[in-house]
Order: sequence, then structure tokens, then C-alpha cells
Amino acid sequence: MARRPFIAGNWKMNMTAESGTKLIKELIPLVKDADCDVALCVPAILIPAMTEVAKGSNIAIGAENMHWEPKGAYTGEISADMLKEYGVKYVIIGHSERRQYFGETDETVNKRTKAVLAAGMTPITCIGETLEEREGGVTEKVLDRQLEIGLAGIEDITKVVIAYEPVWAIGTGRTATDEQAQETIAYIRKKIGQLFCPKCAEKVIIQYGGSMNAANCKGLMAQPDIDGGLIGSASLKADFAKIVNYNKYFED
Ligand code: 13P
Repeated sequence: MARRPFIAGNWKMNMTAESGTKLIKELIPLVKDADCDVALCVPAILIPAMTEVAKGSNIAIGAENMHWEPKGAYTGEISADMLKEYGVKYVIIGHSERRQYFGETDETVNKRTKAVLAAGMTPITCIGETLEEREGGVTEKVLDRQLEIGLAGIEDITKVVIAYEPVWAIGTGRTATDEQAQETIAYIRKKIGQLFCPKCAEKVIIQYGGSMNAANCKGLMAQPDIDGGLIGSASLKADFAKIVNYNKYFED
């Protein structure tokens, strides 16, 4: 069965209710016939307002993080119930910026991913190597560790979206080439097959992320193992519509 492509924006710590509302209103007519499922993962405080603006459209509103405990003394964190109250469907987990700046580990990624699944939402679980790791020839070893620990104990792997985001390509304008991204994502799919089952691996949606934009999305999306994208800076403008319409705007 063919995998349905899925492209999500990650607003990170950008936009306000005012600028976000303006952008989503602009995007709604432009993305209505998108070639894929579409989501925008937004800062937690913007979720209520953006959900309201996107209502009735094909833009799903997602979150950028979630705690694994249902409630309690975890200052600054967001729970599953808080997200579900607004109909959130997707939650980004373990983004490299959370790993790099906020002490996220493979173990906490595992707890968060499982909690998102238990709450009936879809985790977009991020993995990826640094430049040092790629140049040191340990990319596969790093991905193995991130997958083995980050996805340990997950019952139905087909309910997880994986985002492969090489850290050296994030916010740098240095996208992985189509071949690099394809090769690494094919490796990730193979590894998921070994950890779970080959048939399940064929169903898992794996996105590419890292300086993906309107100019390079078509080539990336044409790769057999790349099922979508996680888009940072290019999701902060109307150009995001071109990315989700990657087959329409860029006919050869
Ligand atoms: P950029 O598209 O800005 O490189 O960010 C990618 C990313 O980190 C998406 O999660």
C-alpha cells in the first residue's frame, strides 16, 4: 500500500497570534488541493488561536513538544490532555534543538513518543546526526542508537512518523542532496524493519527535514523512501504552499 505523503511545518519559536493568523488565512486557499497531508506545528501558546483559524481547512495544527506525565509539577511543560482539548493530532518529539539546548535524550524521546501514542496522537519523532558525526563516519551508528532507544517498546511503529533531520542541514541553507537524503532514509527504513518488522517498516512515514524549501522539495519528494518533509524557516511564509503542492508547481 502506498504511503500517503505528509509535509509539516515547524514554526519553532516564531510567529505571534497576529502574524500566524494572517499566514494561515493566506495559506488555506493555496493548500486546499495539496499533494499530501498538511500540518503546522506551532508554539503551544498559539495552538488555540491557530486551531480556530485553520478550522474546516486541510491544515492540521500540531505541537512542538509534549511531556510524558499526564499532569503534575513540571513547570513549563505541556500535557497530552492540554493538547487534545484543542484537537491536536501531531506532536514533534525530540527535535535536535531540544536535544542540543534543552537536555533531551534518547530516553526522554522514548518516553515522550510513547506518551503521544498512548494519548491517540501521532508523534513526529526526530532523529539525525551532527556534521561531526557525519564527517566522522558514524552516521549509521548514531541513527541506530537514536532508533533503538528512542523507539524502544513501541507496539505499533506504523503510528509513528519519523523525521530524519541531519543537524548540519537545519537552518544552514545546506540541504542534504536528494541522494544523501534518500540513502540515509532508506537506511532508517531498513533499521526499522530489523527492529520491528520489514512489512511495518514499509508503512512508516519518514520525512526529511533541513533547509527544505520550494526550490528543492520536488527532487527530495521524488525519492522513493522520502515520504514528506518537516519544514522550518520555509513554513513561516506563503511559500510553504508551494512545498505542499510539490507536484503541481514544479512540473518539468
Ligand atoms: P529549516 O527548514 O529552517 O532548516 O529547519 C528544519 C527543521 O528543523 C524542521 O524541524
